[in-house]
Amino acid sequence: MTIQWFPGHMSKARRQVEAKLDVIDVALEMVDARMPSSSRNPMVEQMLKTKPRLMLLNKQDLAEAAVTAKWVARWTTDSVRVLPIDASTGEGMHAIFALCQQLVAPLYAMWRKKGMQPRPIRALVVGIPNVGKSTLINRLTKRHVAATGDRPGVTKGQQWIRIHPDLELLDTPGLLWPKFEDPDAGWKLAAIGAIRLDILPLEEVALHVLRYVLQQDGALLRQRYGVQEAGDEQDISACALRMLETIAQQRGAIRRKGHIDWERASQIVLQDFRAGKWGPMSLETPEEVFS
Ligand code: G4P
Repeated sequence: MTIQWFPGHMSKARRQVEAKLDVIDVALEMVDARMPSSSRNPMVEQMLKTKPRLMLLNKQDLAEAAVTAKWVARWTTDSVRVLPIDASTGEGMHAIFALCQQLVAPLYAMWRKKGMQPRPIRALVVGIPNVGKSTLINRLTKRHVAATGDRPGVTKGQQWIRIHPDLELLDTPGLLWPKFEDPDAGWKLAAIGAIRLDILPLEEVALHVLRYVLQQDGALLRQRYGVQEAGDEQDISACALRMLETIAQQRGAIRRKGHIDWERASQIVLQDFRAGKWGPMSLETPEEVFS
């Protein structure tokens, strides 16, 4: 799903999410584990303010476990927990409730001190398109289709679903826009299919991916596509171009008169990458992002 975001859409999205944030205790911020920073909304921290946050690094099956572990270490704080999950299989999701409980413990302690009876924790899933919000909500709510009935602060058409005796989830996620302004985030988001970039042609996106992966582990790609010699290792751009050309020749992405069909070759590269055919592959590390 790609959505065209304009300033009007962004401020509307922001207002809608902020209204939902008013009635919840903990935010489940969902990102793509292959690029946890680039797949965050640029204003999410500002919007969440001091709201306790559980960051869900989804699609962990497609990311490199060692890199994902670095992101967990980098972002975990007193008010933020970080959990890698695979919403398509449910892996890792069993820990969601316990982490939410940890995050709201100070709030509950305050309520008790004031003589108030703690109620179930209320949570909201937020994130940019395509990170897996609906997959997660469907999986969490599948066995708990019964809505919890009227609760204050919920807009018409939305429901709290009780997914645990002590945890309720708003059934519609908070949809936020991605980081268009950051060119590095742009090609990564385009690579995973989260945005369509008119200013960045498909070939550019494919070459970015090839360059990045060649820099990390060139042998892996050469093996995959049976490329013997991918060129001068020092010149990574030339190397990526040669690899794209070889892939085009191998997979028949050739036009009339033997011209390379760069667009078709780029589609093949991106399809293979998105389907995880190169094995788990992360597109950014905390060291690169925060250096
Ligand atoms: P959204 O609500 O945030 O927009 O995302 P959604 O749940 O629709 O998920 C987007 C795509 O990501 C879906 O693929 C979904 O199956 C896939 N997905 C979600 N969680 C995981 C995960 O943990 N691992 C993997 N490998 N995939 C996951 P799709 O229906 O095929 O859509 P598309 O890829 O064709 O866009």
